[in-house]
Amino acid sequence: MKKIQISPSILSADFSQLGNEIKKLEKAGADMIHVDVMDGHFVPNLTIGPPVIKALKKNSSLPFDVHLMISPVHKYIESYSIAGADIITIHPEATDNLLVSINKIKELKKKVGISLNPETEVEVIEKFLNQIDLVLIMSVNPGFGGQKFMPKVLEKVKKLDKIRKDLKFHFDIEIDGGIDLNNYKLAIEAGVDILVSGTTIFKSNNGDIKKNIDLLRSI
Ligand code: DX5
Ligand code: ZN
Repeated sequence: MKKIQISPSILSADFSQLGNEIKKLEKAGADMIHVDVMDGHFVPNLTIGPPVIKALKKNSSLPFDVHLMISPVHKYIESYSIAGADIITIHPEATDNLLVSINKIKELKKKVGISLNPETEVEVIEKFLNQIDLVLIMSVNPGFGGQKFMPKVLEKVKKLDKIRKDLKFHFDIEIDGGIDLNNYKLAIEAGVDILVSGTTIFKSNNGDIKKNIDLLRSI
């Protein structure tokens, strides 16, 4: 049985205590830290940028899984790399040339993630699947935490899982948005390796993050 990795989204953390929240996540057994970067343009919400990520890095040795919801993304990739992103995930709609942006992330020796919005099909990135480390399937429209999971995206997870098995590719499949204690198993069964969760980890069971991380990992 494969090990499911948990990437808590700090979007649901207490923003006045972000450093401590990250320390708590590491102690509670998180595998990485999911950082949602929003620009108020590609998505209708605004969060944090490189200086905050740089400061937060001091609080944990876990990999930073940085989800860039910014457009145009290309010219900012380097600053997120310097700030300490370990995985840099971009949306195909946010760059003029996806291949050039993929290669930029690789040059910087970071892991490359590509994210698909609920309405974006696998075909858009099919020819890049042999060159990337991660596909992030959005199970809500990006922009806000606490939205309702869209089960239809599981078809894309299944399709990607089949492609990587058939062609022996090595990318991970991560899912992001509305993951809770009722639907996480469906995602894992469809082929997901990494679960992103904000609301469930920080708010379920009276905010017992260790319990929630353990529950999301249990099959
Ligand atoms: C949405 C973000 C997600 C979000 C997940 O645009 O990419 O990472 O914070 O939060 P929940 O788990 O609350 O849906
Ligand atoms: Zn995200």
